[in-house]
Amino acid sequence: MPSFGGGKVILFGEHGVVHGHPALAAGLSRGVVAEAALADRDELLASPWGVEVAADAASEEPLARAMAAVLTGYPQGRAPARVRAEVSLPGGAGLGCSAALGVAVVAALDELYGVERTPEERGAYSLAWEHVFHGNPSGVDNTMAAVGGVAIYRRGEPLEAVRPRRPLVLVVGNSGESSSTKTMVEDVARQLAGEPERVEKVFSGMASLVQNGRLAIEAGDLSSLGQLMDLNQALLSSLLLSTTKLEAMCRAAREAGALGAKLTGAGGGGCTIALAEDEAKAGVIRDAVAVVAHEAFIATVGGDRP
Ligand code: PMV
Repeated sequence: MPSFGGGKVILFGEHGVVHGHPALAAGLSRGVVAEAALADRDELLASPWGVEVAADAASEEPLARAMAAVLTGYPQGRAPARVRAEVSLPGGAGLGCSAALGVAVVAALDELYGVERTPEERGAYSLAWEHVFHGNPSGVDNTMAAVGGVAIYRRGEPLEAVRPRRPLVLVVGNSGESSSTKTMVEDVARQLAGEPERVEKVFSGMASLVQNGRLAIEAGDLSSLGQLMDLNQALLSSLLLSTTKLEAMCRAAREAGALGAKLTGAGGGGCTIALAEDEAKAGVIRDAVAVVAHEAFIATVGGDRP
């Protein structure tokens, strides 16, 4: 059976989560499936990228190093593994593509070598993969990729499940501007070092949005939830994480009837999410966002896993 790692969207709290604050995230049904088989050497084949790399801790190719990093935890003397992965998420877009790939690869290796782990344990183990791509990952991406659902994540604490009164219908817009999570995280860290009081205030504001967002989701209060998303977007903009294009996408979504809209993930490009009242309204919002974005799709989160 193919192994799965899911993408995710962050509804509230990106960047603050790197510095110990909570984030509220939701798993996507789009992600990565992988299968592992015994082979002559340890290697990863990822489509549709056409990637074929041998695991190598000293390689210049990050995927080769990431493969080597996760393989170190399996029994010594094991036969080598070839992992084939099929990626159905845009990369570098703030949807947790690299973590989804890491979790799918680890799940496939676990199955091949008969290693048993809970989804939380698999998420934690996959952090070694994330470290190759991001200097200081909070752990939210790999945890959500393995566990899914809607949840509050805080560094070093168990994931707290959030139970939506009804599923959330989101329109995900991909700006097509690729951004590096590592660079954006470093940029915010620089701002925090230079102006700790200002940036901590922004993080505290986002932490309140996480708690109020949770209440709105559990109460099924979509209109409040949308307003909270708009507030989170304003706070992220104050950290210089938004772009002209992301702002235009949020505006297009709101003008088409979205209850709220924000960038999701690292910012500086990547994706926006907009909250729709229902599927029909989501279609109208998707079409409006698609005019300014590179692509847009509807994602319903908070039903059954993911
Ligand atoms: O851009 P993504 O999908 O990797 O999301 C990153 C979320 C951040 O909070 C900006 C970084 C992190 O490690 O949590």
